[in-house]
Parts: sequence; C-alpha cells; structure tokens
Amino acid sequence: MIGEPPPAGKKNRHAPPLRFDGSPAGGKCPPTRPLADGLSALLHALRSAALALALGLAAPAAALDLPRGTPAAAIETAIADLLARMTLEEKIGQMVMTGWGAEFDEAAVAGGRVGIVSSVDDPALMVRYQALARASRLAIPLIFARDAIHGYRTLMPVPLGLAATFDPAIVEAAARVAGEESAAAGLHIVLGPMVDLSRDPRWGRVVEGPGEDVFLARTFAARSVKGLKAGGVAATLKHFVGYGAVRAGRDYAEADLSAPTLADLYLPPFRAGLDAGAEMVMAAFSVLNGVPVTANRRLLDDLLRRDWRFDGIVVSDWDAIRELMPHGVAATRTEATEKAVLAGIDVDMASGFYTAELPGLVAAGRVPIARIDEAVARVLRVKARLGLFDPARRDADPAAYEHATATPAQRDTAREAARRSIVLLKNDRDLLPLDRPAKRIAVIGAAAADAGDMMGAWGAMARREETPILLDELKRRLGALGAEVSFAAGCDDACTTSDGFAEAEATARAADLVVAVLGEPWYLTAESTSRTRLGLPGHQQALLDRLKATGRPVVLVTLAGRAMTMADALARADAALYVFSPGTMGAPAIVDVLLGETNPSGRLPMSLPRAVGQIPIAYDVLPTGRPFSPGDTLASRYVDEAVTPLLPFGFGLSYTTFAHTDVTVSAPIVGPADTIRIEATVTNTGRRAGREIAQLYVRDPVAAVSRPPRRLHGLARVDLAPGEGKRIAFDLPVADLAFHDFDGRRVLEPGRFEVGVGGSSEVPLTAAFELRRP
Ligand code: BGC
Repeated sequence: MIGEPPPAGKKNRHAPPLRFDGSPAGGKCPPTRPLADGLSALLHALRSAALALALGLAAPAAALDLPRGTPAAAIETAIADLLARMTLEEKIGQMVMTGWGAEFDEAAVAGGRVGIVSSVDDPALMVRYQALARASRLAIPLIFARDAIHGYRTLMPVPLGLAATFDPAIVEAAARVAGEESAAAGLHIVLGPMVDLSRDPRWGRVVEGPGEDVFLARTFAARSVKGLKAGGVAATLKHFVGYGAVRAGRDYAEADLSAPTLADLYLPPFRAGLDAGAEMVMAAFSVLNGVPVTANRRLLDDLLRRDWRFDGIVVSDWDAIRELMPHGVAATRTEATEKAVLAGIDVDMASGFYTAELPGLVAAGRVPIARIDEAVARVLRVKARLGLFDPARRDADPAAYEHATATPAQRDTAREAARRSIVLLKNDRDLLPLDRPAKRIAVIGAAAADAGDMMGAWGAMARREETPILLDELKRRLGALGAEVSFAAGCDDACTTSDGFAEAEATARAADLVVAVLGEPWYLTAESTSRTRLGLPGHQQALLDRLKATGRPVVLVTLAGRAMTMADALARADAALYVFSPGTMGAPAIVDVLLGETNPSGRLPMSLPRAVGQIPIAYDVLPTGRPFSPGDTLASRYVDEAVTPLLPFGFGLSYTTFAHTDVTVSAPIVGPADTIRIEATVTNTGRRAGREIAQLYVRDPVAAVSRPPRRLHGLARVDLAPGEGKRIAFDLPVADLAFHDFDGRRVLEPGRFEVGVGGSSEVPLTAAFELRRP
C-alpha cells in the first residue's frame, strides 16, 4: 500500500471526508478547501438565520436556565427535574453522537433524538442544527464535537512533534490556538488529545500521541487539556486505555498489559488529563487483557467512573459498539448494545445501535432505566458545564470565523511550536546552519514542493493555500543570502519509482550542497497505517544513496509521523533534521532552523530503533539479570544487532553544546510527603546562543519489584548565550516516586534514589538522596 494515497471518504477520516457540498475532498493533500470562503460562509449564515426565523426558531427557549458558574448541586437538581420530563426516546437521543456530512439527519435533531453532533464543518450549518435542537420539545441544545488533533484551521506540529518540543508551555499555547479556532467555528468539544503512550512505532497512531514516556505523556495531557479549555472548548481524552500497546503495532488489535504496567505507564496520562478538567473520555477500539474496552465494565464503570469519580461523558469510538460483534463478545446487535451500555459507554458514536436497540432493552428490563438516566445526566451535566444552558450564551458567529482564525498571532504560535519541535540528529563538521550558504543548493524530494506533507494527517479545516511550501521558502530566503536554489523531486513522496533519479542526481551534481527532503508522506501516518518496515519509504534510501555518491554534502530533512529506523539514512547524511509533520507554518520553521535563525532544541519523544526487531523499545525498560556486555555470549543481547537504540529518548543536538554540572539535592534525607529540590548548572560551552532542554532522571536501584534504570521526572528549558551558565531547579514531589507492585498496590518504598540532570535519557546519575519513613 506504500505509495498510494488513500481514497477520500469515511474510511479515511483523518483527512476531511467531505466538502461542504457533500462531494469527496479527494486528492492526496490532507486538507482541501475546507471552509467556504468568507463571503459564501456569510451568505450561508444569513440564509440559515432567515430560515430559522421563518421556522420560528430564532429565539429558542432554554431547556434549563443555568448561567455559567451555577453551583454543582443546583445543576444536579435541574438535571433531575429535566430527566423527569423526558421520554425514553428523548433520553436515548442524548446518548447518541452523530455526524458526517451527507449522513446527517435533521429530523432526528428536530425530534430531540441527538445529543452530540460530530464533524459538521460548516459553522453556518452548526447554527442551523442548534436552532433545530433548541426548537425541539425540550429545547436541549446540541454539543458540537470534532477531531482537531493538531489544530483546526492553523495546524500545529502533529502531537508527536509537540511532544518533541519537550516544552509544556508551547504544548499549552498550541492547544489554546486549536481551541480558539475550534470555538470560533462553533465547536464545544474537541475529540482529543490522544494521550496513549506507545513504545511501538509500527503503530501509525503514535503520530497522534505523546510518545514513549509517562512523564512527558502526563505533562502533554494536562497542558493540552488546559490549552483547549483556555481557547474555549472542552477536551476528550482518548483512547481509554491501552490502545498504544496493540500487539505488533497493528491498529485496532489487542493489547495485553499487566496491572502494574497499566497503572504506572498507561493510566497516568488519563488521570492527569482528568485532573486538568477534561469533560469526555473516549473508550479505545482495542481489546485489553482479553476484553474489548467498549465492553469492559472493570475499566469504564469501576475504575474510570467510580474509583476516579469521573462524572463527565464516556463515549465509544467510531462504530465501536458494532465492532463488539467481530471482536467476538456479542452475537447480536442487541447484545453488543447491552454490553456497551452496562460497561459504562454513555454515548454511542456512529454505530446507531443505541437508537435502535436501547428501547427494546429497557422494555425487556435488561438495561435498567436508572442506567439510562445516569448516562443522560452525564451528557446534560457536561452541557451545563459548557454553558449551553446559560441564557446569556451566544453561539459562535459564522461571519466572525474568518477573522477569528488563522490570525497572525495564531500563525506565529504555530511557527514557534514547529521550530521547537525540530530535532537535530546529526551535524558533521558543523555543516549546519546554512547562514553563509554554498552558492548553489539543490533541493531534492517531492515533499519539499507539497504543502500536504507539511500539514500532516488529520488536517481538520486547514487550507493548502495558507500553508507555505518549503521549496518556495528555501528559494526566497537562501536566495536573499546569495544562493541559487535548484529542484528535482527524484520521485513521488512515497518514492514508488526510480524514474526521476537520474535528473535528481544531475541536479545534485550541478550544486555545491544538497538538501534532501524525504521521509513519510502524511498518508502513511495516523489511523490504520501500521508499518512493518520503518526505513525511508519506497525507494527513498536508494535515492539518498545516489545523492551521497555525488560527493556533495547532504543535509537530510526527514519528515515523519513516527520513530523510523534511520541508521542507513543517517549514514548517508552529513547533517540531519528530524521533523514530525510540522503543520501550517512548518516550512518557515524548517528554514528558520536550517539558516540558524532558530537554534534547534527539539528532542526525541520516542527512541529511534536500529532495527524493527528491537521494537517495542524504550529507554526505561527494566534491567535484566545479565546486562549486555561486549564479548559475553550469554548476556541479554541480539546476535545480529546492538541492544541499544540508534538514538535514545530525549536526544537532540544543538548548534552549540551544553554542560550539566553540580547536581545537588536540597536534602540528603526526605520523607514521603516532601518535595525535594534538585538543582544543576547548565552552561553553554559552544559559540552560539542556544536553548537547552534539561531533563531530570531518577533511578530507584533496589526495590521490591524491578525498577527502570532511570525515569524522567522533570524538564527545564534554559536559554543561554555562549559561555553563559545558569542554575536551574526541579521540584520533585517524593510521592511521584511511587509505583505499583505485583498485586497492583501503590507503594512508596524507602531507600536510596539516584538522580541525574542532562540533555538526554543517557545522562549520568551523579547525585542521590534517601527516602525514610517519618
Ligand atoms: C478514531 C478517533 C476519532 C474518531 C472520530 C476514530 O476512528 O479512532 O480517534 O476521534 O474516529 O473521528
């Protein structure tokens, strides 16, 4: 399938499936002309408003009168009162999420049989549907929801790229822009962030998540939720839980996780996102420990809803209730529905089973009405918290959308996020930056000329024409420095043929330096894009070999949505940037880094493996009893490959160098309730100003269970002039050092802990403290 962009349509929902007129978006670019231009949006809005007026819908009665800030107890009383007035059909309606262009059923909305509408991309249509809902018998407004995985109109780097910033502040700022634009379009809830930790880059969805580390994932989850909220929309944490561990990286497959692994690695990002205020949780498609999550009462009802006291909405994933049948845990639609609703799925996304099956199940006494009421109360509660019952609430104004989105400030945030996400993997002989560039520069690679590969998967409502093209940026800015830029694609972006290689080679020979823009096209990343080979796709490696053979220095820019096996590629490159699909402003950001206007500070959020056979791989896997040692034939090793990754988690070079010294702890002995302060001096030891992402790692050398050789516990961004040194500090709550034992108990064990501060997960551990019981 490599090389073929996917057909447009429902099966490829990470690209917009339909234009407003219902025609397929088509083409290989993720986002097409997503919003009607300003004028036609305005006309559409006016037409809808006129229609609503004619229908008598313009001054909707509120179902409830709950101004924002109404105390929780008053909300609960109002919900109970509303529930008492609802028919069963209306109640089940609140448990339905529908959407997707042509399939949309206006009569169901007008009849109060829909609670949440997903992915209506025309703001004027949202106005129309909301007017219909508000004119329904009980006037319960709709929630509008949508995937805005890395932005709405202005795309940020893909989530794995945001994770690569190792910078919580920019993660939050990026989410805020996504929230602002989504809210301006009329959305209330975004179907993200995806907080599935994953150590398996074969799984295409790693692009949508925070990478391999639990601290990074927790931080990413909390900051994403906060940013979305600040922008004006609520967040959905997905996919609860274990989806990132699907076997062999195959999408929608099963995962098998021990209780401690689940508790220590996979659950904490969800917990952090809930603590930050997420209103919805999406159940994973996948099976966990033998039970599909959609039917997993222990996970949804017991853990999430009861133990964690989550009182928002639990939504199924797309069509996942139907999928209980092919999973083999339900023989009929009725049984699938019964299992899902009793497990704790409040809202059915897209299967239609709740509408069709719940009335009969309730009538037969197989689903208690109390369970229906509880699910509906959750939906109404979230609607109240979103202010949908606030009489003073104004719905989004479609006419304002054009001006409230893609503003210079929002585009600046996208550019800054993209800059910070770029990882410098190699820089022999300081080939980069190109601030005094060679006279003739050959740019090779189709992706350099394609906005789609900057934008990445899940393009939401981004516009091609608002996305600068890398080749244009290079021509303009290198041209201004006196260089001449030539171009040859070499092949299409997945490099399915070598027909263009001779031309690419000739172009390279005629230049003094080559910038090769290769890597994964956007459509080989995200949902249902698992790969078994993780090198450069198609014939790209052969193209790179030919470029190297010209003898010209090669700067490799790899676009990617996952951690790839880069050994062969790096062997051919003199300098290399690793760029997770960087979004709308990706092209200017890449050039900022190539020219040295930005000194790169991105870090690998997933280890780069040497070979697919090492996967799953992560920096914090438990030690063995026989650590690898050269020459030891009975040590833990591969006979055909090293055990270490090619490049570790947290790795990323700069155009300068940094030293981390004098790591100190605030107290040699601490108690379980303390927060310990760890300090270090970071010094810029090179000749350029630069930004270091200092990372705090902690090791628990001896415990009741085997503990990782180190684990990330803090991040600090520090900007330093050449020669400058600064003292940085991390505050580590000692409680963060707890873990779950074999029986699933959370324990905080006394003993010695070692700490290290440095620029990657391979830092030496140079200080220590002891945890003692009081
Ligand atoms: C994905 C979800 C997404 C949903 C709605 C599903 O296929 O797994 O992440 O939110 O579609 O688009």
